[in-house]
Amino acid sequence: MMKTRVILCLGLAAAVVGGATAAQAAAPPLRLCADPANLPFSSNAPEAVSKGAPGLYVEIGQAVAEALGRPMEIFWSLSYFGKRNLRTTLLAGQCDFAVGLPATSDFMGPRVIFTRPILKMGYSLVVPKARTATRVDDLKGKRVAVQLASPPQSLLAARSDVTSVTTLDPEDAMRRLATGEVDAAFIWGPSASYINHSALHDKFDVIPVDAPQMQWQAAIGFSNKQSALRDEVDAALGGLEPRIRAIVSKYRVAMGPSLAFADAAPIKVAAAANEVVAAPAAPGAAEKGDPVAGKEVFNGTCGHCHGPDAIVADRKINLRRLKLKYGDQMSETFFTAVTEGRPAKGMPAWKDVFKRQDFVNILTYLNTVQEK
Ligand code: HEC
Repeated sequence: MMKTRVILCLGLAAAVVGGATAAQAAAPPLRLCADPANLPFSSNAPEAVSKGAPGLYVEIGQAVAEALGRPMEIFWSLSYFGKRNLRTTLLAGQCDFAVGLPATSDFMGPRVIFTRPILKMGYSLVVPKARTATRVDDLKGKRVAVQLASPPQSLLAARSDVTSVTTLDPEDAMRRLATGEVDAAFIWGPSASYINHSALHDKFDVIPVDAPQMQWQAAIGFSNKQSALRDEVDAALGGLEPRIRAIVSKYRVAMGPSLAFADAAPIKVAAAANEVVAAPAAPGAAEKGDPVAGKEVFNGTCGHCHGPDAIVADRKINLRRLKLKYGDQMSETFFTAVTEGRPAKGMPAWKDVFKRQDFVNILTYLNTVQEK
């Protein structure tokens, strides 16, 4: 479901970024895992660095390191969102944190742990300014560039009325769009916006598509051996919200701040064709969940606020009391809370992050630990 880049090679180099102050000199550097060739997210190209634009993730990493009073080092390694790459970097202890990982259950399970979501990212439709395309149906009869093995490619493959043109990466798709070889592109949104702005004078509209598998929350990831560091970074994130927003707008990537930031402006979202926007509903009795898988997702993502194994002192967020609190309404309340979130109270919406089956699994797990 996520963009994966083929690992070309593992060219590794570490560099100290910025001058450390005297106080920071004593603190050990916080080591960011980053891709050297992945603008707008990260780059070690001399032009990017000299222009003061080393990338969104690098700048967020710097903000985090500063908040912790530590200097930052970057461990460069090609491949972005590559699970294999993270195994040899983040999980091998070569670096301490990676910005922009998808906070989802199917992303490296319990070995990678996350902060709260910091960004919402996903696939976008890119169309000429004059044309209004707000739904996948508007692509009827058009030639549309998609990325190889991406969710838009699978979505359009199921439709006989749209001609999809497979491209290797967003650059290739945007090039074909600019030359008129295709009418639209349905590609990785942040890259589309960045290329549209930096190379094409904002000639196109980039419209996020709000549909299952198309948008998800990104967070900062750590090895599960680093939960103290994760907690420290997570605690610092609240205060960094305005700075992170400023960094996001600097790179002109069309993605909204996550719902975890309750007062954030909603992102411009287009409803996709009806058949792909499934309305969430409480699971029926017939839907079977796997409590073991549910527990794993819970401890990987939810346990961070709701306590490992749902054990937590604060009654308000004690999910072992759902049955006592809601009785027969437990499933329904659970589903509404997890899909829509309670943004004002600090509970993120997870409908773009997890599949329905994940929610059913979590609920099945929670059912096994309810207080009587
Ligand atoms: C960033 C912290 C955070 C994370 C991560 C989080 N939650 Fe929550 N959640 C909260 C807070 C805070 C509340 C309480 C909201 C309120 O007071 O109404 C809550 C409320 C809930 C409720 C309703 C509880 C009730 O008693 O009404 C459910 C169900 C729930 N969360 C499930 C989950 C699940 C499942 C996950 C993981 C997919 C998750 N939460 C992840 C912070 C979080």
